[in-house]
Amino acid sequence: MPESPDAFVTVERAATCLQAGGLVALPTETVYGLGANALDPVAVARIFVAKERPFFDPLIVHVPDIDWMPRVVSEFPAVALKLAERFWPGPLTLVLPKVKSIPDLVTSGLSNVGVRIPDHELTRRVLRLANVPVAAPSANPFGRLSPTTAEHVQAQLGDRIDAILDGGPCRVGIESTILQIVDNGVTLLRPGGISLEEIEALIGSVHHPVSPSSESPIAPGMLESHYAPLTPLTIVDHVPSSVESGRMGLLVLRNDMRSLRFGQLEELSQTGDLVIAAANFFQALHRLDAAGLDEIIAVRFPDIGLGRALNDRLKRAEHRRSDRSSC
Ligand code: TXA
Ligand code: MG
Repeated sequence: MPESPDAFVTVERAATCLQAGGLVALPTETVYGLGANALDPVAVARIFVAKERPFFDPLIVHVPDIDWMPRVVSEFPAVALKLAERFWPGPLTLVLPKVKSIPDLVTSGLSNVGVRIPDHELTRRVLRLANVPVAAPSANPFGRLSPTTAEHVQAQLGDRIDAILDGGPCRVGIESTILQIVDNGVTLLRPGGISLEEIEALIGSVHHPVSPSSESPIAPGMLESHYAPLTPLTIVDHVPSSVESGRMGLLVLRNDMRSLRFGQLEELSQTGDLVIAAANFFQALHRLDAAGLDEIIAVRFPDIGLGRALNDRLKRAEHRRSDRSSC
């Protein structure tokens, strides 16, 4: 198992490695995924082992083109087509009835499978070359921060996987929005890189499930503790007017109070742009987590557009503090 720059491979090598049942970290526009041949249950099982991920948490299947849909899903209703035409390739996952050849391990025994076309040319080339659908959760140990650079993957999982394809920093920086489609009814399972506003502008209102319990998550990404740094994180509504120690870090959309003495300050967008903030979000959290701080203070985002997905990730990062055992 590689730990050196040897772990970084070409598109061709990534494809052969997937065909041979290997685990390959792949860049997408959202976060890096840890990919395996979705049709090979042994390769898929290795994902769960490498991530220490519970088997009740199903995986998203990635394909390069819409013509591949029949290889993964058995139905593709009109509303799915409308969403696909508008948002694919892109940060949207659709949960639809699966075909038999997708192993139960991929879906944790559910009859539905999550599928998406990532908007990253290198990875779509790998998928076409390997000529198999690829199951890929985010390439981080279960419950931890998602990786948005190849170096994050190397640091968190480098010694447990076969290869990493370096596609640079992820453009969107936050995971895909997940929509479940039953008949033509649409339910939001996870807010993400496509805002609810954009989706509802296209297809009308979608259902929002009530707050899920940790015991029976609708999408296990909705577990209360997830996406968490090791450093305790607290969410506040405004930048605190004083800080007690220099061992506190601040994560904020836009910083108007430059004089405060935080140990480390991460401003996500000087102009307060939520799209730019999403692209910087996990990188900033990785840096804060590596800075040896006692605590990270995170200022809540406006609850609109991508701010909704960012607040969702913050809530789960904060929850870890009182519930470390659930990971
Ligand atoms: O942007 C993304 O979605 C990234 C990139 C790599 O594509 N992937 C990602 O995967 O975030 P993961 O495994 O970290 O989160 C996927 C979420 C999980 O919470 C899982 O429970 C949910 O998707 N999911 C997958 N298949 C599902 C299904 N059949 N039914 C309900 N939820 C599903
Ligand atoms: Mg994840």
